[in-house]
Amino acid sequence: EEIEVTSQEHQEAAAGSAKAPALIAREVQRRRTFGIISHPDAGKTTLTEKLLLFSGAIQMAGTVKARKSARHATSDWMEIEKQRGISVASSVMQFDFRDHIINLLDTPGHQDFSEDTYRVLTAVDSALMVIDAAKGVEAQTIKLLDVCRMRNTPIVTFMNKMDRETRDPLELLDELESVLKIQCAPVTWPIGMGKNFRGVYHLLRDEVLLFRAGVESANQSFEVIKGIDNPRLQEMFPLEMDQLRMEVELVNGASHPFDLDEFLAGIQTPVFFGSAINNFGVREILSALVDWAPPPRERDATVRSVEPTEQPFSGFVFKIQANMDPAHRDRIAFLRVCSGRFERGMKVKHLRLGREVKVSSVVTFMASSREQVEEAYAGDIIGLPNHGNMQIGDSFSEGEMLQFTGIPYFAPDFFRSVRIRNPLKIKQLHKGLQQLGEEGAVQVFKPVQGGELVLGAVGVLQFEVVASRLMNEYGVDAVFEGTSISSARWVSSEDKKALADFENSLGHNVAYDAAGNMAYLATSGVNLRLTQERWPQLTFHATREHA
Ligand code: G4P
Repeated sequence: EEIEVTSQEHQEAAAGSAKAPALIAREVQRRRTFGIISHPDAGKTTLTEKLLLFSGAIQMAGTVKARKSARHATSDWMEIEKQRGISVASSVMQFDFRDHIINLLDTPGHQDFSEDTYRVLTAVDSALMVIDAAKGVEAQTIKLLDVCRMRNTPIVTFMNKMDRETRDPLELLDELESVLKIQCAPVTWPIGMGKNFRGVYHLLRDEVLLFRAGVESANQSFEVIKGIDNPRLQEMFPLEMDQLRMEVELVNGASHPFDLDEFLAGIQTPVFFGSAINNFGVREILSALVDWAPPPRERDATVRSVEPTEQPFSGFVFKIQANMDPAHRDRIAFLRVCSGRFERGMKVKHLRLGREVKVSSVVTFMASSREQVEEAYAGDIIGLPNHGNMQIGDSFSEGEMLQFTGIPYFAPDFFRSVRIRNPLKIKQLHKGLQQLGEEGAVQVFKPVQGGELVLGAVGVLQFEVVASRLMNEYGVDAVFEGTSISSARWVSSEDKKALADFENSLGHNVAYDAAGNMAYLATSGVNLRLTQERWPQLTFHATREHA
């Protein structure tokens, strides 16, 4: 449908005219907010770059790649610190495609893998899953998909690197279905692979898109041949076409036809084959996002659910990132807009603090640079500069008490005990860890018995970051040491006596987190299972909601 918004209308909407609801509705309708889930090296960076090139948001290949190598040149935190500007800018990329506004949220991987990676997925409306077709489903993809499943996020799948020797496509779909427990609906089907990769057959459009390697420009177009029985195809690929027809018959018989409702419910994923590095299949992905992926939907808050088209502004913070100047404890809180219209300079209410704040120096994230935002709608991400007075999960509104839910903390996979060299700094240590904990940089557990604090993270670089920030921002020289803990679960129960008994008998392994929630710190998977069996009155949770 045609979406046209004039600046006249925007001005009127800003002035609170009767046209505002229609304007907001249209702006919501044309937004798509998604993240990419993939295992390192599957091609996320390459694909991101091609998406930006395609949309015209960047002109030059290599831009995103350069950011990535700058970021990963070293795992030295001081170096990473220098790159903070880069990582803030590439955290959210906004671009236009076919009259739609697309927000692509980076899910940090490699050494940057952290709880942020998970939490970003709570702020998106859909996800693009990139799979290396030579490798199939890999560990990190499984974890990230589990997070998507918490909100039934619709997933589009891209089977990448078809220009290489890959695994059998049917086998790949099988693996997706059995390992990820998601129905696959192939939309394009590959013709050959590696040196013999000829292109893809579009099952819904009955046309073949011919592959051509190695063009880096944005406006690369691939030749399309209509109809699988087209004699030209038979002429061009006498060997491959019989095989293709056989496979298509198999696929049509054995796999699920694409069903928009099942996709939107997160039950089914449309699957596309291609090669990101060759720009091949990228346009199809963008079209799928625009045509099929949902615009912003209602979000749950404690009191009610909030429609994106409601006129009053609301949103929540899903990520906090230390900014350029550590000396000023300068941070940017990433806020996802959930409803209404945000305008620079407007007053919004910080609900946890019960305080009005005027947000004048807000940043938005265009693909090419970090820019000042003038206005934003549901689905958009805005960056609020702050000095440590914001926490993950904080909600903002024009006054109504709306605490958004579904922004979880995730049980850590890595643990360290923390010790300081100078005991006089214990207060600073606690203050630093409290604030870094609130920011979501790390999780802090205080065991009921035994004095040493335990830190938990989902990615090991988090510890390095925390050690460096404790030193720079709080003047604390902390030493992190390995512990015997291998996993953590939050514990709850209606049965208060059982909880107290649990705490008394397992004091060394029971701890409280920064928000005062009880957790069990297990020494092994077996230990966790046995404890769960022994305490059937208690519930063990792998995630917890923002307090
Ligand atoms: P990531 O962000 O998911 O970690 O992956 P990234 O895009 O960096 O891609 C990982 C490697 O896979 C890169 O090679 C990249 O060039 C390659 N790659 C991505 N898409 C394709 C594709 O469609 N076909 C083929 N053959 N390769 C692809 P590298 O050698 O690690 O880096 P570089 O030296 O090419 O930069």
